[in-house]
Amino acid sequence: PLLTIAIDGPSGSGKSSVSRAVADRLGIGYLDTGAMYRALTWWCLDQGVALTDEAAVVVAAEALPLELSTDPGDQRVVVGGTDVTAAIRTTAISAEVSKVATNTGVRPVLQQAQRDRMATISVATGGVVAEGRDITTVVAPDALVRILLTASEEARLRRRSAEVHGSADEAAIAATRDQVLRRDRDDSAVSQFTVAADGVVTVDTSDLDFDESVEAVLAVVAS
Ligand code: CDP
Repeated sequence: PLLTIAIDGPSGSGKSSVSRAVADRLGIGYLDTGAMYRALTWWCLDQGVALTDEAAVVVAAEALPLELSTDPGDQRVVVGGTDVTAAIRTTAISAEVSKVATNTGVRPVLQQAQRDRMATISVATGGVVAEGRDITTVVAPDALVRILLTASEEARLRRRSAEVHGSADEAAIAATRDQVLRRDRDDSAVSQFTVAADGVVTVDTSDLDFDESVEAVLAVVAS
């Protein structure tokens, strides 16, 4: 059987780095669905599509010229021929991405694209780790393994701050707090990713370091 693993969680839960490491350890492919929402946001801004023009953003989603690496060791993202791997992680995109993600016409388009990609990757590599906000519930509720990765607000802000500002001192955390908490609030209006759905295993990484988080997820997969 194909080893399909769905992982959801909020910002700073360690979802992306842990999911990549798990896919690498299991020798299967990886799908970062957040990168798809980020890439669409970048593409709309690049093409002059107003994010408030909901219908135009749906049209852009349907024809998104996206190349996404499926190798957990190589997370290159290319849109319309431009390498946007770094550009989609900037705070400018993070600040806008929820506008695209809460567009109710966009979600089914990207969700179906994600199901298609999961199927292709699984067939090619024997499985897939797909991570996001709604993978365990909407995109792949029938995945073999479903995990919600959580962490306390304090731990999440510390990690995200270190990632974005290279520091987790008080000033850096303060600079991160507003954006992270606002994005969590906006996102939770469209997908429930703070409480595990029926049959989804919760892994709390508040007191785990990176390696321990990877081992904790691998333990769930093995069980
Ligand atoms: O920065 P972080 O790892 O928290 O987020 P991400 O996984 O890169 O996702 C960026 C944004 O895409 C989220 O804030 C959501 O607005 C949206 N998203 C979503 O709506 N559904 C998903 N399955 C994945 C991401």
